[in-house]
Formats: sequence, C-alpha cells, structure tokens
Amino acid sequence: MQKRTKALAWLCTKAIFLALFVMPSCGHAASDTNSPPPIPKPGPLAQPRSLQQVGLPLDQTRATIPPDNPQTPEKIALGQKLFFDGRLSADGTVACATCHDPARAFTDGRPVSIGIHGRPGQRNSPTVLNALYNKTQFWDGRVKTFEEQAELPIINPVEMGQTNMDAAVASIQAIKEYRDDFEKVFGRPPNGPDIQRAIASYERTLFSFNSPFDRFIAGDANAIDDSAKRGWKLFNTQARCNKCHALSDNQPNLINFTDNDFHNIGIGIIRHHVVPLARQAEKLVNSGNSAAIDRAAILTDFSVLGRFLVTKKQPDIASFKTQNLRNLLLTAPYFHDGSQETLWDTMDHYNKGDGVQNPFLDQDIQPLALSEDDINDLVAFLASLTSDDYKEPAAKELARQRAIAKTNRPQRDTARAFGPKPVQPPPGP
Ligand code: HEC
Ligand code: HEC
Repeated sequence: MQKRTKALAWLCTKAIFLALFVMPSCGHAASDTNSPPPIPKPGPLAQPRSLQQVGLPLDQTRATIPPDNPQTPEKIALGQKLFFDGRLSADGTVACATCHDPARAFTDGRPVSIGIHGRPGQRNSPTVLNALYNKTQFWDGRVKTFEEQAELPIINPVEMGQTNMDAAVASIQAIKEYRDDFEKVFGRPPNGPDIQRAIASYERTLFSFNSPFDRFIAGDANAIDDSAKRGWKLFNTQARCNKCHALSDNQPNLINFTDNDFHNIGIGIIRHHVVPLARQAEKLVNSGNSAAIDRAAILTDFSVLGRFLVTKKQPDIASFKTQNLRNLLLTAPYFHDGSQETLWDTMDHYNKGDGVQNPFLDQDIQPLALSEDDINDLVAFLASLTSDDYKEPAAKELARQRAIAKTNRPQRDTARAFGPKPVQPPPGP
C-alpha cells in the first residue's frame, strides 16, 4: 500500500511536470471534447462606468492610472473591443469576457473557469469590477499590474491557448480594423504590449459603487435595513471580518473591503496534502518563469498552494488574496476554488473557524459563536454591497441562495462554532 502511494505520488509529479513544461495541453482534468460557452455580447453593463457614483473615491481612482499608460477614450474603446473578441484566442472561441461576463459582474458563475476546447482550470474567476484598486492581481497576487496580467490568460493553455504573444499579435494584425485602430491610438501596428495597454485601460474604467451601503455611509440612515446594520457591526466585532477585510482593525477599506494581503483561511486544504506538494512545487517553480507559475496555478494541483507559488515561503502555503466583497450576489460560487455555493455556506465556514489539521491556518480564523440571526445579519450586510446596476439579478440570487440555505447547509457545524479554538498541528519538517 505504502509503495503504491509512493508510485502514485511519483506519477502525479511527473504528470504535473509534463503539464508545466512539456505538454501544456495535458493539464489536470483537461478535456478537448467540450466547447467553451459562447462569448457574451458587450451590452450596457460592459460600457465604461461613470465616475459619478456614491462611494467612488475620485483621488484613489485617478491614482490607479500609470503615467506610461494614460487613459484616452479611443484606447479604452479599443481595449473594450479586444476584451470581447474571441480572435485573441488560439481558435477564435474564447475572449476575456467568456470568463468575465459583465452580466455576472465580470465573473462566469462557475466553480472553476472553462477555456479553450472546454478545458477547465483550477480556479474561480474573480470579478474585474474594481480590480483597478487591487495592489496585486490574481488569487495569489502573482502579478501587480493589469498590463502584466493581460498577457497570461492569452498564453495559458486552458484559457485562450495561444502558444505565445506573437501568435496573438498575428491574429490581431490580420484584421484591418485593428490595424487602423492601433495606428490611431498608438501610432504603430498591433503588438503585444499595446494590446495589453489597451485592455488595461478598459479595465481601469470598470468601477462599481452606488450600493445601498455606500448611501448609508454617505449619511442616508435608511439606505440599509436594521439587519444589515447589525451585520456591519458584527463584521467589525464578534465576526472578526475586519481582521482581514479592512485596512486595519480600526480602519475600514470601503473600496473593496480587503487588506490587500494573503491568508490561509482553510479553503481546499483538506483535499490536498499541501506540505509534500509544496516541496515538489519548489523545485519546479524555481526553474520557471511567470508563464510557468501561471500554468502551475491554473492547470495543476499546485494551484492549492496559493501565495507559496510566488514567495516560496512556508507560511504562505495555501494562502490566498483577501477577496473584494462587493457585488457578491453576482459572483457566486465563492472562494478561489468556487467550493461554496451560498453566502450562508461561507458564513458557516468562518463560524466554525475551519482548518482542521491545517498548520498554516491564519490565527484570525477561529470559532465565532455566531447565531443563525447573526449569520442572517451578516448576509444582509454583504447583500447591501450590491451596486444599483445589479439590483434585480442580485435580489433573485439572494432569494435562490436563501431557499437553498433553508434545507442545505453542508458547512454548518454548530458544535465547533460554539466550541474552543482547536490546536493546529505543527508544520512538520
Ligand atoms: C478561461 C477563463 C478566463 C479567461 C479567458 C480570462 N480570464 Fe481572467 N481570470 C480567470 C481566472 C480563473 C482568474 C483567477 C486566476 C488565478 O488567480 O490564478 C482570473 C483573473 C483575472 C484578473 C485578476 C483579478 C483579481 O481580482 O485578482 C484579471 C484582472 C483578469 N483575470 C482579466 C482578464 C483579461 C484581461 C482577460 C483576457 C485577456 C482574461 N482575464 C481572460 C479566468 C479567465
Ligand atoms: C484571516 C483573514 C480573513 C478573515 C478573518 C475573514 N476573511 Fe473573508 N476572505 C479572506 C480570504 C483570504 C479570502 C479568499 C480565500 C480563498 O478563496 O481561498 C476570503 C474570501 C471571502 C469571501 C468569498 C469572496 C468570493 O468572491 O469568493 C467572502 C464572502 C468573505 N471572505 C467574507 C468574510 C466575512 C463575512 C468574514 C467575517 C465573518 C470574513 N470574510 C473573515 C480572508 C479573511
């Protein structure tokens, strides 16, 4: 039995190695039999958003524009066109918008994304709304800027599948309309960095505020109900959410409710033996570049290692970026692996202080002793972070989740939620 496990582990390493460096298309659970979902059309929700929104921080918004990539209306329009254009992918079938659909607050509604030839990745698609305020991009923060970020899905074998940026440039260059656009915007023919600049410019127009909570903070005491008010209070006290979803315990971050940091909160950890995995990853990732790390994160079991893939520091094992909490009713399912279906499930996860047998669990994750009423209040607060543009679909989704949560609470563990803080095992050698 022991031998068999070892042999399996070796095979697994070998498969991961092949997936990373030799045959990118043989990724984890890759399948060429399906087609990706159709590319969404750029409707009203895809348009650059107004700066006139309650809660929008003007100075911080302007500060996100890098001096070497100033915003112009023509560049933004070009970026928007590229964002929705499947011709940027290897076979014309996948665009950025495939996985970042404006109707779903620029996510795809799936646990993990599906790219070219219907190939699944390992991670949940995060919203691009308000991503301009992120200090780093991706769940593990492996890149800092939109410009750097935009290249990686284009050349990832389970996303847009181009062999390299030159191949993507060739398909864009073949189209006269784009040759004209690039000439007009950049004064030169299409090339990789300019494609990335244009897409980044468009993404820097996707801000989303104007929620009932923003109006409440702006002084309208009736903008949210009592339940949401109690939820906001719990968020900053007993529920301990402000330990991570704020700039500091006493300083909220009303932009995206994040500390811009990384934490192991016990997601996905049970399915994997992360320490041996980390040892294997270190060898592979040390020899790689950003494209290799990108493949490790999206294609392989190494995905679960999170921030460790970037820093190679043991305490970062299975740490992920504190996620933006706006428009959550449009961005289900939740967490980096899309493992939780409803907001009630995410609250149950936190309430029991999950992380059984998890040496790297963040010290701020611990049993919370929240009652059912408390949980409902926290959900009401989170729901109040929905922008007006998404009011109707959000109300429908809240009703759907509430109905599910009435009978199905797979993460609920009241004994643990009201029990003592468990002792975690040491990390081991
Ligand atoms: C096949 C689905 C898919 C496609 C196509 C895709 N993405 Fe993504 N995107 C994802 C997933 C999954 C992640 C999270 C990956 C990770 O963190 O490792 C992500 C992350 C991002 C992020 C980081 C957001 C954050 O909060 O960290 C941005 C920005 C982004 N994508 C923009 C784009 C752009 C621009 C394109 C087109 C050039 C694109 N994506 C194409 C699935 C996709
Ligand atoms: C120790 C830090 C920490 C604390 C405390 C914390 N969070 Fe989080 N939160 C995170 C991180 C990190 C993620 C992303 C984790 C992942 O996907 O692996 C996250 C993700 C989430 C998500 C999922 C978002 C999405 O789009 O997938 C929700 C909802 C959430 N947190 C709400 C809360 C609430 C409400 C509380 C308080 C009860 C709370 N969090 C407490 C760090 C924390």
